Amino acid sequence: MDQADHASTLQPVRIAGTGSYLPEKILTNHDLEKLVETSDEWITSRTGIKERRIAADGESTSDLATNAARKALEQADIAPEDVQLIIVATITPDTLTPATACYVQEKLGAHGAVAFDVSAACSGFLYAMELAKSLIATGGRTNALIIGAEKLSAFVNWSDRNTCVLFGDGAGAAVLVPSENGGGRILSSHLGTDGRQTELLNIPGGGSCCPITIENADQQLATLAMQGREVFKHAVNAMKRASEHAIETAHLTAGDIDLVIPHQANLRIIDAIVDRLEIPKDNVFINLEKYGNTSAAAVAIALDEANRQGRIKSGDHILLVAFGAGLTWASAAIKW
Ligand code: UT7
Repeated sequence: MDQADHASTLQPVRIAGTGSYLPEKILTNHDLEKLVETSDEWITSRTGIKERRIAADGESTSDLATNAARKALEQADIAPEDVQLIIVATITPDTLTPATACYVQEKLGAHGAVAFDVSAACSGFLYAMELAKSLIATGGRTNALIIGAEKLSAFVNWSDRNTCVLFGDGAGAAVLVPSENGGGRILSSHLGTDGRQTELLNIPGGGSCCPITIENADQQLATLAMQGREVFKHAVNAMKRASEHAIETAHLTAGDIDLVIPHQANLRIIDAIVDRLEIPKDNVFINLEKYGNTSAAAVAIALDEANRQGRIKSGDHILLVAFGAGLTWASAAIKW
């Protein structure tokens, strides 16, 4: 189901700061050749990924999230104690409850903030952006900290070559504030979900329908399982449609987009989408060769890197687009 397109006529909202954090440890394709029957050539040609980051033992999703959040708050010039709302998008929470956002609130010292998680897999950061935007536009809040953070290495089956070569750990964050005087703002957004396809990509065990027990402990049920080829097809179609919706609702054309920041799952997926949208490859931000697929963190990390590398200038039109388990998809057109 697609949500109705949404070009807000309420209080406009802009991004005032971004941040990201990647753990130090690098796991290369050659390292993976020693773990499973794979090759650097296969991984590079099928995905574009060369290496990914792996969190240290004892480094949790909320640690990654907090490090990214500090940088975003610093750039936005907002003190932790003034943060009003924290939304963490993750499928790899520190604990099933409380929410990872609660740990982040404590680690930041942002004790005045309402804090909760959203679970929308790789689309999660853009779901969080839509929620935060709405709560600023209608709820009287004057800022929101949104974070995409994942420690996927804790939920990967390291003996399954179909999945273990794809994922990595990391976090990205953005601070949203009301936009004054018609400057930069989120122009439009689009969210969608298809719950008929839950089997295509999931972590089947560890939840209430399949708790991990002594009997099933050796079956790796609390790890990512994916029907890659099927997910690939849905990803291309859904991200193309979501991109078109966000562009049209913002009264733009593909030619107006200065930079596309897509979900970083597979270079072939990104190429297929931008070819269909007829957007030049130079106008697409890609960093998946360094980090692999970091799910909810991917768009957030890429947004921060593009911002800090000077790839986004005031007045530019950028398109964010994501796709993930659920199935879920999401897009946003932004005037910077
Ligand atoms: O973040 C949420 C969204 N996720 C995605 O968008 C991921 C979408 N899917 C994909 O990116 C791709 O489907 C994959 C990268 C996961 C797989 O690429 P593919 O081109 O679709 O390969 P495939 O699954 O069709 O497998 C082709 C062959 C198979 O061997 P046979 O059956 O042809 O003999 C696999 O067993 O490649 C084999 N294979 C591997 N070989 C070496 C699968 N994984 C590997 C591997 N190394 N790591």
